[in-house]
Amino acid sequence: MKITNLGSSAYASFYVACELFKQMSQQPHSKLGLATGGTMVEVYEFLVSLLQKNQLDVSGIETFNLDEYVGLSATHEQSYHRYMNDILFNRYPHFTKSLIHIPDGAAENLMEETKRYEDLINQKGPMDIQILGIGENGHIGFNEPGTDMNSTTQVVDLTDSTINANSRYFDNESEVPKQAVSMGLASILKAKRIILLAFGEKKREAIEQLAKHEVNKQVPATILLAHPDVEIYVDDAAAPRL
Ligand code: PGA
Repeated sequence: MKITNLGSSAYASFYVACELFKQMSQQPHSKLGLATGGTMVEVYEFLVSLLQKNQLDVSGIETFNLDEYVGLSATHEQSYHRYMNDILFNRYPHFTKSLIHIPDGAAENLMEETKRYEDLINQKGPMDIQILGIGENGHIGFNEPGTDMNSTTQVVDLTDSTINANSRYFDNESEVPKQAVSMGLASILKAKRIILLAFGEKKREAIEQLAKHEVNKQVPATILLAHPDVEIYVDDAAAPRL
């Protein structure tokens, strides 16, 4: 695992967008593990621009999102389904709908939904590239501190830290869902290659925990130490003070 400071979120986002673009153009049937959140906004903006400029055929690309809030429908303004449509799939409308996979947080039977999603990953995966953000508390996906290292897709209770951090996207904190469906830590580790991005001072502590190179269940992202191909890119503000 290597942590590299690329200086700014724009440089790091452009780098990752180029890596995703390269993967898609070299392997037209690539499987991509996609993430949401503020960190990924610029990545998708650069990616859409690269796709448009080159009119890349993405009809064979299959995508799997990490997580979704429980109780939010696909069209809800704050759902990750809506985020992905607004930021990528509607802006470059050439993806094949049946190859876009996002957990259904509004499913009637959430247990069945978690099983369906994990089975899908096992049948169609592994991801060629999985991109990840990181929570202030070190979560990846919505795998909060203490999550079992062998966890697969499951319903998770969000911690106060996550609810508070994500309240910036809602009108107020009470509107933030308390649960999510999230790929587990073991599901994430199945990817062939993992790229994690962290921007801003609020992420620095979590990155400093990763820089210790010790697996710590209280900092879920440290499980990435068990994976052979992980790159971490940060901006100046999230770079570890060594
Ligand atoms: P953010 O979320 O990109 O909105 O900061 C990242 C995360 O919680 O994984």
